[in-house]
Amino acid sequence: MAARLPPSVPRMSDILAHLIENNRRWVQGITAQDPEFFKKLERQQRPEYMWIGCCDSRVPANEIIGLLPGEVFVHRNVANVVLTSDLNCMSAVQYAVEVLGIRHIIVCGHYNCGGVNASLEDMAHGLIDYWIWPIKQLQRKHPWLAGLDTPRRRDATCELNVVEQSFNLAECKVLKRAWSEGQEVDIHGWLYDVKDGRVRDPVIRIDRVGDARTLAASAEETIRRRHCP
Ligand code: CO
Repeated sequence: MAARLPPSVPRMSDILAHLIENNRRWVQGITAQDPEFFKKLERQQRPEYMWIGCCDSRVPANEIIGLLPGEVFVHRNVANVVLTSDLNCMSAVQYAVEVLGIRHIIVCGHYNCGGVNASLEDMAHGLIDYWIWPIKQLQRKHPWLAGLDTPRRRDATCELNVVEQSFNLAECKVLKRAWSEGQEVDIHGWLYDVKDGRVRDPVIRIDRVGDARTLAASAEETIRRRHCP
Protein backbone atom coordinates (compact mmCIF):
# COMPACT_ATOMS: atom_id res chain seq x y z
CA MET A 1 0.00 0.00 0.00
CA ALA A 2 1.35 3.43 -0.89
CA ALA A 3 2.47 5.55 2.04
CA ARG A 4 -0.12 8.07 3.13
CA LEU A 5 1.77 10.72 4.95
CA PRO A 6 0.04 13.76 6.39
CA PRO A 7 0.57 16.84 4.18
CA SER A 8 2.96 18.36 6.76
CA VAL A 9 5.43 15.50 6.26
CA PRO A 10 7.49 16.07 3.11
CA ARG A 11 7.94 13.04 0.91
CA MET A 12 11.42 11.52 0.77
CA SER A 13 11.66 12.34 -2.92
CA ASP A 14 11.23 16.06 -2.10
CA ILE A 15 13.77 16.08 0.71
CA LEU A 16 16.40 14.35 -1.38
CA ALA A 17 15.38 15.84 -4.72
CA HIS A 18 18.78 17.52 -5.15
CA LEU A 19 20.49 14.14 -4.89
CA ILE A 20 18.21 12.58 -7.49
CA GLU A 21 18.92 15.57 -9.70
CA ASN A 22 22.68 15.11 -9.14
CA ASN A 23 22.26 11.50 -10.19
CA ARG A 24 20.46 12.49 -13.38
CA ARG A 25 23.26 14.90 -14.30
CA TRP A 26 25.91 12.32 -13.46
CA VAL A 27 24.34 9.76 -15.79
CA GLN A 28 24.04 12.43 -18.46
CA GLY A 29 27.72 13.37 -18.12
CA ILE A 30 28.94 9.78 -18.34
CA THR A 31 26.72 8.74 -21.25
CA ALA A 32 27.70 11.90 -23.15
CA GLN A 33 31.27 10.53 -23.13
CA ASP A 34 30.30 6.89 -23.70
CA PRO A 35 26.68 6.07 -24.58
CA GLU A 36 27.32 2.35 -23.95
CA PHE A 37 28.90 2.87 -20.51
CA PHE A 38 26.11 1.46 -18.33
CA LYS A 39 25.22 -1.27 -20.83
CA LYS A 40 28.80 -2.52 -20.66
CA LEU A 41 28.81 -2.36 -16.84
CA GLU A 42 25.58 -4.30 -16.67
CA ARG A 43 27.18 -7.20 -18.51
CA GLN A 44 30.13 -7.52 -16.13
CA GLN A 45 32.47 -5.94 -13.63
CA ARG A 46 36.15 -6.72 -13.96
CA PRO A 47 37.99 -4.42 -11.58
CA GLU A 48 41.71 -4.80 -11.09
CA TYR A 49 41.69 -3.22 -7.64
CA MET A 50 40.07 -3.77 -4.29
CA TRP A 51 39.91 -0.93 -1.78
CA ILE A 52 39.62 -1.50 1.95
CA GLY A 53 39.18 1.89 3.54
CA CYS A 54 37.54 3.89 6.31
CA CYS A 55 33.85 4.88 6.27
CA ASP A 56 34.90 8.54 6.67
CA SER A 57 33.02 10.69 4.13
CA ARG A 58 36.25 12.52 3.28
CA VAL A 59 37.86 9.36 1.94
CA PRO A 60 35.82 8.24 -1.10
CA ALA A 61 37.63 5.40 -2.87
CA ASN A 62 36.78 6.04 -6.52
CA GLU A 63 37.37 9.79 -6.44
CA ILE A 64 40.73 9.63 -4.67
CA ILE A 65 42.25 7.30 -7.24
CA GLY A 66 40.29 8.66 -10.20
CA LEU A 67 38.42 5.48 -11.11
CA LEU A 68 35.01 4.99 -12.66
CA PRO A 69 32.27 2.58 -11.57
CA GLY A 70 33.38 -0.95 -12.38
CA GLU A 71 37.06 -0.21 -11.76
CA VAL A 72 37.45 -0.69 -8.00
CA PHE A 73 35.76 -3.16 -5.65
CA VAL A 74 35.21 -1.44 -2.31
CA HIS A 75 34.87 -2.48 1.31
CA ARG A 76 34.75 0.20 3.99
CA ASN A 77 34.33 0.16 7.76
CA VAL A 78 35.29 2.39 10.68
CA ALA A 79 39.10 2.77 10.70
CA ASN A 80 39.71 0.25 7.87
CA VAL A 81 39.96 -2.74 10.16
CA VAL A 82 40.63 -6.21 8.70
CA LEU A 83 39.59 -9.04 11.00
CA THR A 84 39.48 -12.67 9.97
CA SER A 85 36.41 -12.98 12.23
CA ASP A 86 34.55 -10.27 10.27
CA LEU A 87 32.31 -12.16 7.85
CA ASN A 88 31.52 -9.01 5.92
CA CYS A 89 35.14 -8.11 5.20
CA MET A 90 36.23 -11.71 4.60
CA SER A 91 33.33 -12.37 2.20
CA ALA A 92 34.22 -9.26 0.23
CA VAL A 93 37.89 -10.30 0.11
CA GLN A 94 36.98 -13.82 -0.97
CA TYR A 95 34.72 -12.57 -3.76
CA ALA A 96 37.36 -10.07 -4.87
CA VAL A 97 40.19 -12.61 -4.99
CA GLU A 98 38.45 -15.81 -6.03
CA VAL A 99 35.70 -14.57 -8.34
CA LEU A 100 36.88 -11.21 -9.66
CA GLY A 101 40.56 -12.15 -9.72
CA ILE A 102 41.61 -8.80 -8.26
CA ARG A 103 45.30 -8.03 -8.82
CA HIS A 104 45.88 -5.38 -6.11
CA ILE A 105 44.26 -4.82 -2.73
CA ILE A 106 44.78 -1.36 -1.27
CA VAL A 107 44.35 -1.04 2.49
CA CYS A 108 43.96 2.70 2.83
CA GLY A 109 44.00 4.38 6.22
CA HIS A 110 43.87 8.13 6.64
CA TYR A 111 45.31 10.69 9.02
CA ASN A 112 42.95 12.30 11.52
CA CYS A 113 40.84 9.13 11.58
CA GLY A 114 38.09 9.39 14.21
CA GLY A 115 38.23 5.65 14.91
CA VAL A 116 41.99 5.69 15.44
CA ASN A 117 41.84 8.85 17.55
CA ALA A 118 39.08 7.33 19.72
CA SER A 119 41.28 4.27 20.31
CA LEU A 120 43.85 6.57 21.96
CA GLU A 121 41.39 8.14 24.37
CA ASP A 122 40.92 6.78 27.84
CA MET A 123 37.14 7.02 27.82
CA ALA A 124 34.09 5.00 26.77
CA HIS A 125 32.56 5.67 23.34
CA GLY A 126 29.95 2.91 23.26
CA LEU A 127 29.75 -0.03 20.87
CA ILE A 128 32.56 1.33 18.75
CA ASP A 129 35.00 0.49 21.57
CA TYR A 130 34.60 -3.20 20.70
CA TRP A 131 35.31 -2.51 17.05
CA ILE A 132 38.43 -0.42 17.66
CA TRP A 133 39.77 -2.81 20.31
CA PRO A 134 42.44 -4.18 17.91
CA ILE A 135 43.66 -0.62 17.32
CA LYS A 136 43.84 0.00 21.08
CA GLN A 137 46.16 -3.00 21.27
CA LEU A 138 48.69 -1.15 19.11
CA GLN A 139 49.55 1.00 22.15
CA ARG A 140 50.61 -2.11 24.04
CA LYS A 141 52.46 -3.62 21.06
CA HIS A 142 54.39 -0.41 20.44
CA PRO A 143 55.21 1.13 23.84
CA TRP A 144 57.25 3.92 22.18
CA LEU A 145 53.94 5.53 21.13
CA ALA A 146 53.47 6.64 24.76
CA GLY A 147 56.47 8.98 24.43
CA LEU A 148 54.99 10.97 21.53
CA ASP A 149 52.87 14.10 21.72
CA THR A 150 49.21 13.67 20.77
CA PRO A 151 49.36 14.72 17.08
CA ARG A 152 52.37 12.47 16.44
CA ARG A 153 50.86 9.58 18.38
CA ARG A 154 47.72 9.86 16.27
CA ASP A 155 49.64 9.93 12.99
CA ALA A 156 51.90 7.06 14.00
CA THR A 157 48.92 4.96 15.13
CA CYS A 158 47.13 5.58 11.81
CA GLU A 159 50.26 4.29 10.03
CA LEU A 160 50.75 1.30 12.35
CA ASN A 161 47.08 0.47 11.91
CA VAL A 162 47.52 0.20 8.15
CA VAL A 163 50.49 -2.13 8.64
CA GLU A 164 48.50 -4.19 11.15
CA GLN A 165 45.45 -4.51 8.89
CA SER A 166 47.59 -5.28 5.81
CA PHE A 167 49.29 -8.00 7.84
CA ASN A 168 45.93 -9.40 8.98
CA LEU A 169 44.83 -9.51 5.37
CA ALA A 170 48.00 -11.35 4.36
CA GLU A 171 47.29 -13.90 7.08
CA CYS A 172 43.71 -14.65 6.06
CA LYS A 173 42.79 -17.98 4.47
CA VAL A 174 41.74 -16.44 1.17
CA LEU A 175 45.11 -14.78 0.51
CA LYS A 176 47.10 -17.74 1.84
CA ARG A 177 45.27 -20.09 -0.53
CA ALA A 178 45.51 -17.73 -3.51
CA TRP A 179 49.25 -17.32 -2.99
CA SER A 180 49.83 -21.04 -2.47
CA GLU A 181 48.14 -21.66 -5.82
CA GLY A 182 50.40 -19.12 -7.52
CA GLN A 183 47.81 -16.35 -7.91
CA GLU A 184 49.39 -12.93 -8.11
CA VAL A 185 47.61 -10.55 -5.76
CA ASP A 186 49.48 -7.82 -3.91
CA ILE A 187 48.54 -5.94 -0.76
CA HIS A 188 49.40 -2.24 -0.59
CA GLY A 189 49.18 -0.29 2.68
CA TRP A 190 48.44 3.37 2.05
CA LEU A 191 47.78 6.51 4.04
CA TYR A 192 45.58 9.29 2.74
CA ASP A 193 45.89 12.81 4.04
CA VAL A 194 42.52 14.54 4.37
CA LYS A 195 44.15 17.95 4.65
CA ASP A 196 45.55 17.98 1.11
CA GLY A 197 43.89 15.04 -0.64
CA ARG A 198 47.19 13.27 -1.25
CA VAL A 199 48.10 9.61 -0.85
CA ARG A 200 51.46 9.34 0.94
CA ASP A 201 54.22 6.82 0.16
CA PRO A 202 53.04 3.27 0.87
CA VAL A 203 53.86 2.08 4.39
CA ILE A 204 53.92 -1.58 3.35
CA ARG A 205 53.56 -3.86 0.34
CA ILE A 206 53.07 -7.60 0.67
CA ASP A 207 53.09 -9.95 -2.32
CA ARG A 208 53.03 -13.69 -2.92
CA VAL A 209 56.74 -14.24 -2.32
CA GLY A 210 57.43 -11.82 0.55
CA ASP A 211 57.25 -12.92 4.18
CA ALA A 212 54.42 -10.88 5.72
CA ARG A 213 55.81 -11.06 9.25
CA THR A 214 59.23 -9.71 8.20
CA LEU A 215 57.71 -7.03 5.98
CA ALA A 216 55.37 -5.86 8.77
CA ALA A 217 58.21 -5.74 11.32
CA SER A 218 60.34 -3.70 8.95
CA ALA A 219 57.45 -1.31 8.14
CA GLU A 220 56.81 -0.82 11.87
CA GLU A 221 60.49 -0.07 12.46
CA THR A 222 60.47 2.53 9.64
CA ILE A 223 57.44 4.21 11.23
CA ARG A 224 59.08 4.20 14.67
CA ARG A 225 62.25 5.77 13.30
CA ARG A 226 60.30 8.45 11.49
CA HIS A 227 58.43 9.49 14.62
CA CYS A 228 61.22 8.95 17.18
CA PRO A 229 64.30 10.43 15.49
CO1 CO B 1 38.62 7.07 9.57
